[in-house]
Amino acid sequence: MARDIRRSLVDKILSSLLKKKAQTLISTGMSETVSTSQSLGQKRLHIKTYGCQMNVYDSERMADVLRPLGYVMSDAPEDADLVLLNTCHIREKAAEKVYSEIGRLKEMREDKEARGGGRMTIAVAGCVAQAEGAEIMNRAPAVDLVVGPQAYHQLPELIARTTRARGERLMADFAADEKFDKLPVEREVSGPTAFLTVQEGCDKFCTFCVVPYTRGAEWSRPVAQIMDEARRLADKGVREITLLGQNVNAFNGADKSGAESTLSRLIEALAGINGLDRIRYTTSHPNDMGDDLIQAHADIPQLMPYLHLPVQSGSNKILRAMNRKHTRESYIELIARIKAANPDIAMSGDFIVGFPDETDKDFEDTMDLIRQVEYASAFSFKYSKRPGTPAAAMPGQVDDKVADERLKALQALIIEQQQAFKAGLIGRTIDVLFDKRGRHNEQGIGRSPWLHSVFAEDAAHLIGQIVPVKIVALGNNSLQGELIKELV
Ligand code: 5AD
Ligand code: SF4
Repeated sequence: MARDIRRSLVDKILSSLLKKKAQTLISTGMSETVSTSQSLGQKRLHIKTYGCQMNVYDSERMADVLRPLGYVMSDAPEDADLVLLNTCHIREKAAEKVYSEIGRLKEMREDKEARGGGRMTIAVAGCVAQAEGAEIMNRAPAVDLVVGPQAYHQLPELIARTTRARGERLMADFAADEKFDKLPVEREVSGPTAFLTVQEGCDKFCTFCVVPYTRGAEWSRPVAQIMDEARRLADKGVREITLLGQNVNAFNGADKSGAESTLSRLIEALAGINGLDRIRYTTSHPNDMGDDLIQAHADIPQLMPYLHLPVQSGSNKILRAMNRKHTRESYIELIARIKAANPDIAMSGDFIVGFPDETDKDFEDTMDLIRQVEYASAFSFKYSKRPGTPAAAMPGQVDDKVADERLKALQALIIEQQQAFKAGLIGRTIDVLFDKRGRHNEQGIGRSPWLHSVFAEDAAHLIGQIVPVKIVALGNNSLQGELIKELV
């Protein structure tokens, strides 16, 4: 009952967010900033990306949107004509970083103008823009433009407006699914691996999480559109794609006939694209891990044997309070089924320590679950209280020092398991996709099927190829390998 009430409250907040008129441009009419017209021809664009892989994808697509306007990417914010901060709202620290970065950019802008370098436009994109757009406008007058994650296809128009209106500052709001129809089909690729967003948003409403509010309701791209993007990537030499979604295994994009597809069917279709030899997907929710998807890990060789499946906690009491809608037992049983389908599969996960009312016993349950599952890698976080989420109002907020200690202990256990997994690869020959040069001796750096960095001498000429490599030693965060001479 209580959960129903909370759910309906949350639904109300969400639907009010979603019902905001698509493509609304809110002019704040402030005139603190004065635009000079940008010089014709090349303009320098600097993008700083915070947060998850979806933001990395979005940043690349923002660059694609702006390229036809003459923007070229620059590593140097101090010389940039346009700086885009693509922000993350998931934890407080990530959100706060944005404001200090804006302060630094403001000084850079003053220096640039004093040098006669012309004006720097400062834009805030991503989830902080979505969640705190109006606050950014008030708190950071240096910002010219705020654009949410569903509206960045409108950047050319928005930038033109900030320039034309000489100091008018603009906010672009939620525009949901039309973004992908409007993005340019051409993507610039920077190597043999690429991200491809197939699903956005989340309907799960874990009580600690802002994603359902910042990214909106679950929505999937149509299959044909994804296939087209994937084919273009493969034509440009991409060998490995990672399908992205906040709840990617809830993918239900429309197929050609208009019927709902599934992630496993999408993967099967993608596996038929010539040149696309590796497929990954992230992030998944345990409750959307259907039998067909589990079977895909047995049947589709292109699907990499690595699965990021967050559980967050190993305590049933905490899982309930988190509104995860699964138990530790159902999670462990699910992993057993996945490993039965493909014994080579390595697990990854996300954990939160210090969730309200987490006792030593609850934490010990989490450690115990980690010992049972044996992760090849995992991300762990101290609970961060996010305004507006149900958990923020829960009693029993955990002392910071206690949470710090738990995080340290959990990370030590994960590192131990990570090292043990890597040690088990020594002496084995594994497939490595080389994707960049190392520092010396024609060294090449590649990726193992389980996402480790693998270093090998004399492999720089193999970039873009998948070759067998014998693992000979462990690095800190990597593996050292040797090419099998007769095979290359
Ligand atoms: N505090 C700490 N970690 C969080 N995550 C999401 N929200 C919070 C929060 N409020 C973590 C979860 C999620 C990952 C992307 O970030 O573990 O899976
Ligand atoms: Fe957030 Fe993931 Fe839970 Fe959705 S499923 S609310 S994105 S933690």
